[in-house]
Amino acid sequence: MSDQRSNLTGSPRFAPKVARRDFLGLAALWSFLISGVTMFLGLFRLPMPSLFPEQGSKFRLGEADRFPQGSTTVIHDRNVLVGHDEGGIYAMSLVCTHLGCITQVVSDGSFTCPCHGSRFDPKGSVIQGPAPSPLRYLELSVSPSGDLLVDRAKNVDETARFNPGGRRS
Ligand code: FES
Repeated sequence: MSDQRSNLTGSPRFAPKVARRDFLGLAALWSFLISGVTMFLGLFRLPMPSLFPEQGSKFRLGEADRFPQGSTTVIHDRNVLVGHDEGGIYAMSLVCTHLGCITQVVSDGSFTCPCHGSRFDPKGSVIQGPAPSPLRYLELSVSPSGDLLVDRAKNVDETARFNPGGRRS
């Protein structure tokens, strides 16, 4: 009988189970190792910026010929309307002056803000609040390659126009 018992205890089926204390020790060790590796990887990531830098305030519109006299063109990915009237070319921001939502062009050429209902006439003047001020007109210039540039950081008067020859009127 004792021989039978000694044979059974040698079997892997009857191998002693991991003690609770050993299990907790192993779990603590693995937690420590994993958190250490994660922290180490985080240290390498630290010098890199979390956000990609903004493209800058200027962007290209292409050649002035894209905007013939009498046209108005919405540049959707830039939230800008580019118009060309008798005075020249202008760029108007479509960003609402209330809290920064993007206004929508209505069929009559006016603008409406979907967020709180502000309305602007075709020249960007406030028809209905809560927007406190008109839509902004943005500075235009020409790049060395001849493309029109809009600078969304620089406001100009609503009467300012840019002529493709490079002169401002
Ligand atoms: Fe346009 Fe409030 S953001 S009305």
